[in-house]
Order: sequence, then structure tokens, then C-alpha cells
Amino acid sequence: MSETVLIVGSFHPSVANQLGATHRIVKAADPGAFNAMSDDELADITVYVSMGWAPADAIDRMPKLKFISSFGVGYDGVAAEHAAAKGIMVGHTPDVLNDEVANTVIALILATDRRIVAYDKYVRAGRWVSEGNAPLTRSIAGKLVGIVGLGRIGERVAEKLAVFNCDVAYHSRNKKPDAPYTYYGDLLELAQAADILVVITPGGPATNKLVSKQIIHALGPDGTLVNVSRGSVVDETALVEALQSGKLGGAGLDVFEDEPNVPEALFAMDHVVLAPHVGSATIETRQAMADRVVENVEAFFADGKPVNLVPECNGLVG
Ligand code: NAP
Ligand code: 8YV
Repeated sequence: MSETVLIVGSFHPSVANQLGATHRIVKAADPGAFNAMSDDELADITVYVSMGWAPADAIDRMPKLKFISSFGVGYDGVAAEHAAAKGIMVGHTPDVLNDEVANTVIALILATDRRIVAYDKYVRAGRWVSEGNAPLTRSIAGKLVGIVGLGRIGERVAEKLAVFNCDVAYHSRNKKPDAPYTYYGDLLELAQAADILVVITPGGPATNKLVSKQIIHALGPDGTLVNVSRGSVVDETALVEALQSGKLGGAGLDVFEDEPNVPEALFAMDHVVLAPHVGSATIETRQAMADRVVENVEAFFADGKPVNLVPECNGLVG
């Protein structure tokens, strides 16, 4: 059966190509373009393919909506409970990106602690010639990496860190019975113990500023913070102040509070590595995510069971 599928955002082209083979596609470039659409244009939409943006009022504007297929594992921008209460299922794209995002974490740890970007600038500026050898950095071998959120991605990060001879500990709300790493129920204690803190929880109200000023200061002047979760999880103002004052040793950041805007104070800091939310951004992984967006739609219409349903919608599965 042919559905009317709304795609909002600048998407991998294969999503529209694949779904367009059997369904009618309607496109909006971004949330602003969606907001400008008339009620008539939205009246027949049954499937909404989103880049993680689906607030309750947008959902309410599509009276025939049955399924939201969200690109990405994180769906903090999707009103999933609201959708579930209306009988609308929400799919997302976990697992297919675990390795890529974990690789990004490892890259940020090494780039930050070994000052790879600063060294690159040093060579290009001719300073190796004019000033001689660059300053030494610290090894990550033997250091304790605290993972905040030992979920699908956090587990892959922990596995990969073994190759670098790092010790691993973690914090989450629940202890994982089979995880071979030290569990800290108290995030402050983990921050005090860790040399490097990797943040890889979901965003949203439950984790808002979980990494507070107190946690950042506990990590300390020799500590490194790596955030690949969501900008909302870290107190960004406190982070910038701690990096400026030397209360925190360094930071590798892929996500920010107000993307694509990044605090300008970070731009001049050699102990900070910045990335434009590219944790999963390889050709291969983005293709796998796009394929999962399509598979979720197809499975929903085949038997009402998307490949990856968000837990808020579990009660809707027959
Ligand atoms: P996941 O499997 O659901 O793991 C989430 C982990 O966070 C779990 O260990 C969970 O354990 C913990 N957690 C959740 N709420 C918490 C809280 N309030 N306090 C402490 N720990 C909490 O998710 P995932 O697939 O690994 O993905 C994690 C997140 O990474 C996504 O939601 C997304 O925001 C982010 N991400 C970013 C990128 C990027 O490009 N930068 C790419 C992919 C994903 P408990 O439930 O026991 O607390
Ligand atoms: C996506 C991400 O690029 O999966 C996630 O949660 O943050 C990234 O992999 C992003 O969600 C695109 O919408």
C-alpha cells in the first residue's frame, strides 16, 4: 500500500529514493519549512521521517500520522511519550553506529590528550623550525577512563580502550551485572577518580547538565572531558570557565548546547578539540542509518513491528 511520507531535513538521498519507489514523498528542508506548511499539505501524512526533530505540536499537526522514523539513535528531540499516547510508533537507528561513534570517542581522546591539532598548527606555523621541539604531552596508557553511560556505544568504547591499556570504570543509573568494569553509582566519585571522562548518555531532561560545574572541577586540572552525547548533558558555561581557568585540563567535544553555534572562547584553546557533531558521520555508517530508517518504515507496515522501536512505544506492539 502506498503511504504519504514526509521527510524533514537534509537527508541521505537514498531514504527518499528507497521510500519513493512505493510511497508518495513530501519534503520540507528544515523545521522552519515544516512550520510554514499548511494544514492541507499535512492532512494525508502517515509517515514522518525526521532528523530527530518531532515536538508534540508538530506531531499534532499530522492527523493521520501512524509512524515516525527518526534518523539517529538519540531521540531527545522527539516527543516519544506523546506519540505513544496517540498510538503513533517511533523508530530510531541504534547499533549500526556503535563502532563509528566509539571510534570518534577514541579519536577525540587521543587528539585532545596528545594535542594532535595543536601540534599540526605548530608545524604549519613554522614553529618547529623557529622554536624547536614542541612540548611533551601525557600518555593515555594506564589512565582511568570513566564512561558516563555504559550503553550500546559506551560498551564499544570500553572494549576499544583495552587496546590502549587504559583502565575503565563507569557510571549509569543501573549497575550492569556482567560488565567487567568498576561501577560508580555516584558520578562525583567517578569524576574524582578518573583521568578522562567520556560522556555518552542520551540527552533530554533526565541528563540535563548531569556533568555539572562540580563534576567538571572534580575531574581537575589534569583531567580531560570528552562529550559525544548531547550538548545539554554538560554545563557548557562551567566547562568554558574551567578550561579558561585551568581547573580542567582539556576537552574533546563533538556536541554543543546550541548547535551549530559553539562558544567562541573555545576557538583559541590548544587544549580543546572541536568537532561538528560527526560521531557517526562516515559514508558507510550514514548509509547504514539511512537503510535502517527505511527498514523501520517497511517493517512497521509489514507487521507493525519496526526493527528498532523506541522503548516508550513498546506497549503499542501487538
Ligand atoms: P543506550 O544504549 O541507551 O545507552 C545509554 C546509557 O546511558 C545507558 O548506560 C544508561 O544506563 C545511561 N543513562 C541514561 N540515562 C542516564 C542518567 N540519567 N544518568 C546516568 N546514566 C544514564 O544509548 P546509546 O545507543 O549508547 O547512545 C547514547 C547516546 O549517544 C544517544 O542517545 C545520543 O544522544 C548519543 N549519540 C551521539 C552521537 C554523535 O554523533 N555525537 C551519535 C550517536 C549517539 P541507565 O539506564 O542504567 O542509567
Ligand atoms: C546523528 C546522533 O548524526 O545518532 C545520534 O543520536 O547524534 C548522530 O548519529 C544525528 O542524530 C543526526 O540527526
